[in-house]
Amino acid sequence: MPDRAEVSESPPVAAIILAAGKGTRMRSEVHKVLHPIGGRPMLLHLMSALSELAPARQVVVVGDRADQLERALAGTAVQLAVQSPQLGTGHAALQAEAALAGFEGTVIVMFGDTPLLRTGTMRRMVAAVVGTGADGPAIAVLAFRPAEPGAYGRIIADADGTVQKMVEAKDATADELAIDLCNSGLIAVRSEILFSLLRKLGNGNSAGEYYLPDIVMLAAGEGLRTVVLEGDLEEVIGVNSRAELAGAEALFQKRRRAELMDAGVTLVAPETVFLSWDTDLAADSLVEPHVVFGPGVRAGHGALIRAHSHLEGAVLGNGVEVGPFARLRPGTVLGDGAKIGNFVETKMAVLGPGAKANHLTYLGDVEIGAKANIGAGTITCNYDGFLKYRTVIGDGAFIGSNSALVAPVTIGAGAIVAAGSTVTRDVAADALALVRPEQTERPGWAAQFRAAMQARKQSREGGR
Ligand code: UD1
Ligand code: CA
Repeated sequence: MPDRAEVSESPPVAAIILAAGKGTRMRSEVHKVLHPIGGRPMLLHLMSALSELAPARQVVVVGDRADQLERALAGTAVQLAVQSPQLGTGHAALQAEAALAGFEGTVIVMFGDTPLLRTGTMRRMVAAVVGTGADGPAIAVLAFRPAEPGAYGRIIADADGTVQKMVEAKDATADELAIDLCNSGLIAVRSEILFSLLRKLGNGNSAGEYYLPDIVMLAAGEGLRTVVLEGDLEEVIGVNSRAELAGAEALFQKRRRAELMDAGVTLVAPETVFLSWDTDLAADSLVEPHVVFGPGVRAGHGALIRAHSHLEGAVLGNGVEVGPFARLRPGTVLGDGAKIGNFVETKMAVLGPGAKANHLTYLGDVEIGAKANIGAGTITCNYDGFLKYRTVIGDGAFIGSNSALVAPVTIGAGAIVAAGSTVTRDVAADALALVRPEQTERPGWAAQFRAAMQARKQSREGGR
């Protein structure tokens, strides 16, 4: 959690997030920064980490597919600034000038495609230009050392952290390419110098673009101090392609698994469990191997999620048991101690405390009372091809195996539905509903049949 006191004593912080680029390497109709990690768009991960700093202003620079970003950010305090055409990261940052008019403090500039940045790192960057007084650095740059520096911009710095030069890989000499100190894209700048420096940028480079990192050399040329800070490799990876998206997802999963385990949840084989950004399991829950959590899953204390289950939009009480091989879809609510067994699918299904559906069942648009027992093969027939209908099952009711409950229908508390019933009318509390033809029996018939057939078969074989 942020140290609010520390933040409020410092000058205010504003953020510019650059997201106007085409993101061509993703080969997607969807804007690059809206591709999900842990079930949430990349950009929203960044905005959420940023929000802990309580920024005074937040500006997202949009261009390509701006409508998609507008929709994703609707209802937030974020301002949008349009960059058209896209002439580089420095030009993009300059487009935020009007939105930041009158702002005084520290500006952090970030790239929308670095989703794993943590609040602590942002705070460290702000502190590097704020906490050091008037003669301290005017610009701080966040660097990292990837195993393969590849296309990242390189940073040449003195031993004391003063930046000598920042150079894009495209423009770098062989000697510069051999440097492994790379630009993460995150910089913190004192607001009074940012836009005047951005206006001075040139585009005399191999891409013909206005490069944001070039403001660091411009600042140095004006006698301002600059400093490079090193960040954690896992926080600053940039996502430009599907392969890098998968890489970021893997790092995110690792982080979330560790957080859950720290919170007292057992993951028997953590590397096989896939979590959502908001998966929230209380202490002493246990997750068996190969479980996938979509967004919106919460569980109380001591939940047992067994192998090969898939859950999304489900709220689980204390001590519930799910799976193996269960599928919980949105709108599922399980009361304390409820049990959903193998090959059971639930959707908009509210189960009371201690209710059970142990095997092979579809429960959709249904409310099930406490301690009700749903037999194997029960289907709530909730859909007629046009509309959906509800089923209500009372407390302690018993639904026999292979029953079809044709909604809308209500089964009263304590009622019993006989196995194999197709129930189309409401059943009163404590009644028995038996909907099947009466059984008939012919004594000895099977034995006579066998004898007759055997005789026929032998006479045919004998005739050959
Ligand atoms: C950029 C940096 C590089 C750094 C790397 C870290 C520059 C010139 N290069 O390279 O030093 O190592 O990030 O990940 O800054 N954008 C705009 N408008 C534009 C161009 C880009 O808004 O005109 C946005 C993009 O949408 C993206 C971000 O800026 O979110 C970075 O652009 P991208 O093209 O991904 O830069 P890289 O080549 O990765
Ligand atoms: Ca990038």
